[in-house]
Amino acid sequence: MSTKSTSGTWNPDLYLRYAAYRARPAEDLMPRLKLNVPGDIYDLGCGPGNLTQKLKDTWPDRNVIGVDSSPDMLKTAREKIPNGITWQQGDISAWGATSTAALVFTNAALHWVPDHKTLLPRLMRQVAPGGLLAMQVPVSHPEGYHQCIEELAKSPKWHDRFKDVHAHDDPLAASAYYDLLSPLCSDMDIWETDYHHVLEGENPVTEWISSTGLVPFLTALPEADRPAYLADYSALAAKAYPRQADGKVLFTMHRLFVLATRKG
Ligand SMILES: C[S@@+](CC[C@H](N)C(=O)[O-])C[C@H]1O[C@@H](n2cnc3c(N)ncnc32)[C@H](O)[C@@H]1O
Repeated sequence: MSTKSTSGTWNPDLYLRYAAYRARPAEDLMPRLKLNVPGDIYDLGCGPGNLTQKLKDTWPDRNVIGVDSSPDMLKTAREKIPNGITWQQGDISAWGATSTAALVFTNAALHWVPDHKTLLPRLMRQVAPGGLLAMQVPVSHPEGYHQCIEELAKSPKWHDRFKDVHAHDDPLAASAYYDLLSPLCSDMDIWETDYHHVLEGENPVTEWISSTGLVPFLTALPEADRPAYLADYSALAAKAYPRQADGKVLFTMHRLFVLATRKG
């Protein structure tokens, strides 16, 4: 897990290119959220704010607060999303609710934050009794897109450039989250799902991953060297993701969900 901040390197426009696909897991999670206690909604690692907006649309009478460490992501959120949501710059590692939290929601963000053994119980304690912690994180390491990252990082050409750079960790196992959170919870729903996204274009895996998993590696390179790195990544990804019969690419992401209700 990288301990370096990646806050300055997220590219909201690139990230939003696959917004509909990226939103799919959250759209599966959101209908399961039943808010039975008064309080505010926090979206941790809110990125460009499109899911924060969905939370506000679902609960227009609640205060919704989007928290992210990236000034660029928050700038896009402020520009794209109409008034009515509070945006806060902050690091999830140090975050604490500043009001009663009926829901702490976090989608595709906590894998960037280290030490889940400490983090998850701490986040759960931020939730009001009867409130919800809802998280979705990708499980990346077994997947081709992550294997390509590792292979390049170890290659003679790039090894020296990435000595101090690490990809994010995978989340813990479902059973570990259960044991960490069950003392604080009255109810827990944990599940995992594979999403097989159909991608088109010349280097669709690179396009997807360059705004997420490659961020620490691109950050470590001067701008002039990034095209060569992306070209090498694309060559590996083309082998890891052979084209389907119709020329498209089936890009699989495995996602882990935890929905936990704080003990009353
Ligand atoms: C993959 S994006 C997810 C954005 C949004 N939640 C979504 O699902 O579309 C991950 C976001 O987490 C943010 N992030 C990463 N580490 C963070 C940290 N330690 N504290 C706050 N935000 C963080 C990044 O800036 C980025 O906006």
